[in-house]
Amino acid sequence: MPSNPHIFAIRPYQPGKPIEEVEREYGLHSVIKLASNENALGPSPKALLAAQKALTRSALYPDSTAFTLVQKLAEKHKLPEDHFVMGTGSDHVFMLLALVLLNPAVNAVISEYTFPTYAIATHSVGAELRIARAGPGLGHSVDHLLAAVDPSTRVVFVDNPNNPVGSYLPGGEVERLLRSLSPDVTLVLDEAYFEFANAPDYVSGLEYVGRYPNLIVTRTFSKAYGLAGFRIGYGVTQPALVDLLKRVRLPFSLSHVALAAAEAALSDHAHLNKTRALIETERPLLAQNLARMLPQVLPGAGNFISARTPMPAQDLFVMLLKRGIIIRPLGAMGLPDFIRITVGLPDENQALLKALSDILG
Ligand SMILES: Cc1ncc(COP(=O)(O)O)c(C=O)c1O
Repeated sequence: MPSNPHIFAIRPYQPGKPIEEVEREYGLHSVIKLASNENALGPSPKALLAAQKALTRSALYPDSTAFTLVQKLAEKHKLPEDHFVMGTGSDHVFMLLALVLLNPAVNAVISEYTFPTYAIATHSVGAELRIARAGPGLGHSVDHLLAAVDPSTRVVFVDNPNNPVGSYLPGGEVERLLRSLSPDVTLVLDEAYFEFANAPDYVSGLEYVGRYPNLIVTRTFSKAYGLAGFRIGYGVTQPALVDLLKRVRLPFSLSHVALAAAEAALSDHAHLNKTRALIETERPLLAQNLARMLPQVLPGAGNFISARTPMPAQDLFVMLLKRGIIIRPLGAMGLPDFIRITVGLPDENQALLKALSDILG
């Protein structure tokens, strides 16, 4: 079939296994999914109510400018409305960035272990992908990222906190990276897990947006806000880049229900606080208990913990599936001896620990 040859460079994304598929394949009921870093508490009830109400407008096209939501985001982040671009998930914003900034003559730089969508976006437009070595803890290294940048680099993608490793770059390192990049290289700082990063030296890139026109920070409603199924995220950057990104964005991609849910979720501070509290309590407990059974547990700044396994991670994944628990083996992300576990509800975490202890003895 005649097609663009660079599409063959794309490795299809491997999502976490859906609950329904595991129930079907293994004849199980009440499967626990700790595989895709979703919110264990689910969406805000207020967001669900708003989404239900929005259904009555289904015959009409949604507001392509996302006027009300952008207004609320501008207020929240204390930045002008012209600094915001919406996407059907933050991964949509990465694709828009690739369309606007990349082409077959230039390249994008990523770290060895990072979120796979950056590679998909880069290869989709035929740009070269340059891979920087990870740092000592497997996370991003500013020195290695800078070493991978060359005169043809137009984009550096950094997830902070990082998925799958769970590490983060402190504010000083983010600023050192920004200071060292030439203005024609855009730093895409993906803050999908921002709400869970509570280390004192973690600083959001939004602090730097005013000073560095070559920075875009992305955020999502998929994680702390529990709206992964609605597909809604955004980028924050200088208006000139927002203008370009909006030109390639399909106008009605965000539905009434997604917009309404996101607006309501933003106002539900109680649900967000509850979500953060769950992670703050359960994340260290899970990490401590995993460390009793697994050879290496990585410190996690997101709503998940990654750990080295004493057997091929894929085998452990299948053994857990048979016990009705879905986790993520990290072979597809370059770490065949590691698994990633989303922090769940206390009962779910206990069930996982029990299953692991049964398997590992
Ligand atoms: C680092 C990172 N960025 C972005 C995303 C995608 O988020 P969204 O649902 O907003 O596309 C994820 C989802 O797993 C992620 O781990």
